[in-house]
Amino acid sequence: MTNYQELKAHLSNQQYHWLVTGVAGFIGSNLLETLLKLNQKVTGLDNFSTGHKKNLEQVQALVGETLWHNFNFIEGDIRQLNDCKRACSGVDFVLHEAALGSVPRSIADPILTNDNNISGFLNMLVASRDANIKRFVYAASSSTYGDHPDLPKVEAVIGKPLSPYAVTKYVNELYAEVFARSYGFKCIGLRYFNVFGPRQDPNGAYAAVIPRWISALIQDQPVRINGDGETSRDFCFIDNVVQANLLAALADQPEAANQVYNVALNERTSLNQLYEMLRVLLLAQFPHLATHRPQYGDFRDGDVRHSQADISKAIKLLGFQPTHRINKGLAESIDWYVTHLATTK
Ligand SMILES: NC(=O)c1ccc[n+]([C@@H]2O[C@H](COP(=O)([O-])OP(=O)(O)OC[C@H]3O[C@@H](n4cnc5c(N)ncnc54)[C@H](O)[C@@H]3O)[C@@H](O)[C@H]2O)c1
Repeated sequence: MTNYQELKAHLSNQQYHWLVTGVAGFIGSNLLETLLKLNQKVTGLDNFSTGHKKNLEQVQALVGETLWHNFNFIEGDIRQLNDCKRACSGVDFVLHEAALGSVPRSIADPILTNDNNISGFLNMLVASRDANIKRFVYAASSSTYGDHPDLPKVEAVIGKPLSPYAVTKYVNELYAEVFARSYGFKCIGLRYFNVFGPRQDPNGAYAAVIPRWISALIQDQPVRINGDGETSRDFCFIDNVVQANLLAALADQPEAANQVYNVALNERTSLNQLYEMLRVLLLAQFPHLATHRPQYGDFRDGDVRHSQADISKAIKLLGFQPTHRINKGLAESIDWYVTHLATTK
């Protein structure tokens, strides 16, 4: 029996109250789904800036009406301290996902990214501290490794940030550390590496590569690769991220708290390999892909060339055991993509 299985068994017998910020987004809605299926009580906070009501509706359909009654949604904004305080009331664990993602968005509008990702984060820390929550688990990012060339990435060795987004995510870590030191606050940061899975938004200029490419492939539109396609990432399926969050919230080894952890696979897939995996996976259903080929463009500002996580710290201190490598994650989510992306633009 793995730690995660034990943890799920424990949660099935013990109901906690969780706050998931960014609950209408990709990662937040997947956390919500798992927590409700484990009969947990969940408050969700979101302002729908990049999240969608349809994500909540999909979770509602998946968990059924009885479990859905354990969910309380607050439409609000983490830039408003009062919204954060209201959301934290009576909560045991906070899973803080709300932020403006995307490196290019932060380059286009650094002030907006700063307001959401730093001021909003600080509001959430203050509200969580004042509500005496048990633990604050937050979405950090692999972008914090910046220009450091070493692979795989080890938590203690970071470089200079390459974008305003990366600055905000690093500042989150600094604030969390200072709150631990100054107020005895318990927090854990999870440095996600490119996460993918159901409910990740394929639309808009700042969409992540996997849903954007699947959507383009299905609709026989061009797939544009930034650079030569040899840029690589440690793509991480959403189930691994959900697992890391629950383990981080309940990890009881004293040395596990007030740390940051890489959350990925310790594997590297180039954009060229990813394109080919997706094309082959979709080929049976979409024969036009037999002749589809990618287009190559310029490298994108602020992008790191290679990314790969050393996950031994999360394995050791959290009991993290990722269940899905990239192929398994793509295979399990392809039906969702086909159903939901075939009709989107
Ligand atoms: N997806 C990834 O690959 C990845 C990688 C590293 C880090 N992260 C981090 O994980 C978290 C979740 O990312 P995601 O991929 O689910 O993105 P997402 O855009 O799907 O979800 C973010 C959610 O936060 C909400 N939100 C944004 N600003 C808010 C505000 N001011 N008040 C209330 N709600 C607000 C949005 O409406 C959205 O529902 C983010 O903090 C992101 O920076 C994601």
